Amino acid sequence: MDRLKDKVAIITGSTSGMGRETAYVFAEEGAKVMIVGRNAERAQAVVDKIVADGGEAAYVLADMRDATSVENIADATLEKFGTIDILYNNAGQLSITPTLDLSLEELEQVTRVNVNAAFILSKKVAPVMKAKGKGIIINTGSVAGTAARHGLLAYCTTKHAVNGLTRALARELGPEIRVNAILPGAIMTAMLESIGGEAAVGAMVESSPLKRIGNGREIGTAALFFATDDSSFVTGQLLRVDGGVDC
Ligand SMILES: NC(=O)c1ccc[n+]([C@@H]2O[C@H](COP(=O)([O-])OP(=O)(O)OC[C@H]3O[C@@H](n4cnc5c(N)ncnc54)[C@H](OP(=O)(O)O)[C@@H]3O)[C@@H](O)[C@H]2O)c1
Repeated sequence: MDRLKDKVAIITGSTSGMGRETAYVFAEEGAKVMIVGRNAERAQAVVDKIVADGGEAAYVLADMRDATSVENIADATLEKFGTIDILYNNAGQLSITPTLDLSLEELEQVTRVNVNAAFILSKKVAPVMKAKGKGIIINTGSVAGTAARHGLLAYCTTKHAVNGLTRALARELGPEIRVNAILPGAIMTAMLESIGGEAAVGAMVESSPLKRIGNGREIGTAALFFATDDSSFVTGQLLRVDGGVDC
């Protein structure tokens, strides 16, 4: 409890899935959380639960495909909470289109959500964190950012880019700001359900040491490690949270 007391955290993609669970974990630890997504009803529901549980939260709607909308997330957070201590770039877009059917427009759109938004927001919050002498940035990659998967060119390419973005930001934003990434494996969320849920990843999961799909809270607790001084000598790292899958 209270490991994030009085810290202000922005979590993109927190109206659903692992971002939402991370918001709950951070709020339980005393953080003031800015919830971000496109869906106002789901955003309000997350805020309501945090407040009902005794925490503090607000939401800002943003479309990560739009640079101005992304920049506004930081402005709205400063206006509401006065500072920013933690940025978790978690919003992501899946794309399952075979390469020969993939349009440049789709690749560009996935890139805007998975890569460009994290760059824009990190650049926007970095001066605030540098001025404070301390800050945390966490990115969400994927195990699809470590190996190619059939039909996932846009997703794989952009998640590989998240790895490079994480390392480059860590190199340039230190010593004040630590930057790390979480690379989830199969986690039971709306995104996984959209591709068929358990059936879609059954073989991969069965061949893994832990033999199960993960849950959002297991990403939230990994994010908590990066968000606290428990990881005070860790930066530029890519942490797989995947039950041990070997692909
Ligand atoms: N689930 C998995 O197995 C898995 C594995 C590896 C990596 N990941 C990554 O984990 C992250 C979270 O995904 P999830 O599984 O938790 O999926 P999810 O439950 O579908 O949540 C996705 C979140 O991203 C937000 N989002 C998507 N596109 C957006 C856009 N254009 N503008 C603003 N917000 C947008 C959604 O908000 P709104 O709907 O409110 O817009 C939602 O809050 C993603 O980066 C994903 O690539 C997931």
